[in-house]
Amino acid sequence: MTISAKLLFVDDEPDIQELIRQKFRKQLRQGQYQFIFALNGIEALEKISEHTDLDLVITDMNMPGMDGLTLLSKLKELNPTFKTIVISAGGMENIQKAMNAGAFDFLVKPINLQDLELTIKKTLEFVYQNQTNKQKLQQAEEQLIQSEKMSALGLLVASVAHEINNPVGYISINLKYAAEYVTNILQLLNLYQKEFPYPGEKIEKKIHEIELEYLIEDLPKIFASMQHGTECIRDLSSSLRMFARSDTQTKIAFNLHEGIDNTLLILKHRLKANEHRPMIEVIRDYGELPLVECYPGQLNQVLMNLLSNAIDALEESNHNLSFSEIQMNPNRISISTHLSEDQNWALIHIQDNGVGIPSEAMEKIFEHLFTSKPVGQGTGLGLSISRQIIVEKHGGKLWCKSDPGKVTEFVIELPI
Ligand SMILES: Nc1ncnc2c1ncn2[C@@H]1O[C@H](COP(=O)(O)OP(=O)(O)OP(=O)(O)O)[C@@H](O)[C@H]1O
Ligand SMILES: [Mg+2]
Repeated sequence: MTISAKLLFVDDEPDIQELIRQKFRKQLRQGQYQFIFALNGIEALEKISEHTDLDLVITDMNMPGMDGLTLLSKLKELNPTFKTIVISAGGMENIQKAMNAGAFDFLVKPINLQDLELTIKKTLEFVYQNQTNKQKLQQAEEQLIQSEKMSALGLLVASVAHEINNPVGYISINLKYAAEYVTNILQLLNLYQKEFPYPGEKIEKKIHEIELEYLIEDLPKIFASMQHGTECIRDLSSSLRMFARSDTQTKIAFNLHEGIDNTLLILKHRLKANEHRPMIEVIRDYGELPLVECYPGQLNQVLMNLLSNAIDALEESNHNLSFSEIQMNPNRISISTHLSEDQNWALIHIQDNGVGIPSEAMEKIFEHLFTSKPVGQGTGLGLSISRQIIVEKHGGKLWCKSDPGKVTEFVIELPI
């Protein structure tokens, strides 16, 4: 057990403190246990309010001031899940009282130190198991909230992409026919011009008016450009559908650059210029990366969280700045990718020149529900979920460094 457990020992005999220190000196030295002592219930309650991270309370029954049973009931009021071991003077009646008052376990006086050690160990195991279960539940809950957010977004994106696909499909097919027909008509015109080189004044005038020569030259270019346009919309629609796919069951080989590009595409509306600020510049510097085995839907979710946070930070940094002031030091997001030196990791750096993160917040940003944003704007889940996805689901790393007021950089490291 490498975690340090904090235990409160409540007993009115001061001698017992030395005994405990002797018995647990190895654990104390190794930082495995930390004991806090109190001489009665009242003092114990004071210590409890000072040390909010206590794991366990061990209390005597008979003490002056406030006895163990009263302390036990007060503890239950403070925190119903708190675990207490009661040491009683023996006798079935006392033990029964303690257990009825909600003690987790009991020991009988005179204390057998071996027994005490075992009971503490057993109770702590229970406490930690409980904490782990609680954490797991909380994580599952967070993931559900986020995946609901993502699936709502995914659904919208997928349906828009689908709706675009049909009209683009028939424009693209008809363009092909239109180009073919126009080519035929032009060939016919050409033939006419050869067979009837002198069409008369009226037709000459019209030819001149419509600039036929230029028109013949330009028409194929127009068709090519329209064809290109429809292909772009097609690509867009397939990128959107790729982003929205929710195949989270199995890992597949994924092109990280595609993931980044698709996510940027979804965020395009937030990047473009508005009346308050110019467009957010996005600088991409992609290195050579192999495909990475991952859950694409989840990875897109992480990219979405990091890029949304960067945009939020940029927006915040624009407060009280005029359009032209922002223009002088433009909002910028830089994304670069590369392989680690040993070629075992793919790295994605996402940097923004927004507000930055103050050092005192740095430790907390990955915590569940930590947010610096106003109610309704941030839930404080983005980074905690992202870290979970990268670390637990992909065996990777996600970390951050920031120079407050200047830059913030998040780094994703994924094993290859
Ligand atoms: N690029 C960044 N620049 C500055 N601060 C950031 C940046 N990214 C994250 N933060 C800080 O970390 C906090 C936590 O981010 P996180 O994404 O977990 O939650 P959130 O963005 O507040 O809410 P949401 O759940 O909607 O994502 C943010 O509130 C912000 O204070
Ligand atoms: Mg966020």
